[in-house]
Amino acid sequence: MLELVDIRSGYGRTEVIHNVSLTVPDDSVVAVMGHNGAGKTTLLRTAVGLIGAKSGEIRFDGENITKYSPSKRVKRGIAYVPQGQQSFPQLTTAENLQVVADGRKRGKALIEESLDLFPALRELLTRKAGLLSGGQRQQLAIARALITEPKLLILDEPTEGIQPSVVAEIERTIIDLTHRGGLSVLLVEQHIGFALQAAQRYYVLESGRATSTGEGGKGAETAVRAAMAI
Ligand SMILES: Nc1ncnc2c1ncn2[C@@H]1O[C@H](COP(=O)(O)OP(=O)(O)OP(=O)(O)O)[C@@H](O)[C@H]1O
Ligand SMILES: [Mg+2]
Repeated sequence: MLELVDIRSGYGRTEVIHNVSLTVPDDSVVAVMGHNGAGKTTLLRTAVGLIGAKSGEIRFDGENITKYSPSKRVKRGIAYVPQGQQSFPQLTTAENLQVVADGRKRGKALIEESLDLFPALRELLTRKAGLLSGGQRQQLAIARALITEPKLLILDEPTEGIQPSVVAEIERTIIDLTHRGGLSVLLVEQHIGFALQAAQRYYVLESGRATSTGEGGKGAETAVRAAMAI
């Protein structure tokens, strides 16, 4: 589904990602782990086209999308939820969903499906997004991404700074989503336990290099902790 082949990218002359290759197969969850500053967000931003790749190739469903704009990648089926859960703070929850649904044939139904996944949002439809808690904002951000009917959902630390009970809810929803089929997830996550529970494959990123990879599952935790020296 998504293939990053030998990608180099960064900011200005500073190279942050050094020759990283990573594959997200159909109907699978792939987790990227690494310490703060390892380049996880930079890698995701490169995958969605917010940063250009200096070299290497990005393929999606076999198509070379390396030079595609972010919006063209969204149309191909890639949705991105950035770190820090950005929605429009002055718009209500309902309006934030509506903005994404506008112009889509199944807009109304897609909003309903998203709300079914995150029922807590139903009680918050008239509240401004800027007044939601971190966990609620994260749920709204994922709900908005799903309205674009993605084939690949890219999540950057969806559980960062969120209280444990909401983390568990978000985790459950992500795992549920992928069990339905037709959706893959590329997940950057600091919670190693959850990441490995959800993921069929993991990559550890260290100083912009993918230094280890393996199958996910609970059994991989020792290997990941050793790779990350924690
Ligand atoms: N806009 C930018 N301009 C210049 N350098 C940047 C920019 N954003 C990030 N960097 C640098 O790139 C490196 C990788 O940052 P990145 O945000 O990708 O790390 P990360 O693995 O996502 O970290 P975290 O776990 O803290 O989110 C860091 O050294 C960071 O300082
Ligand atoms: Mg980051």
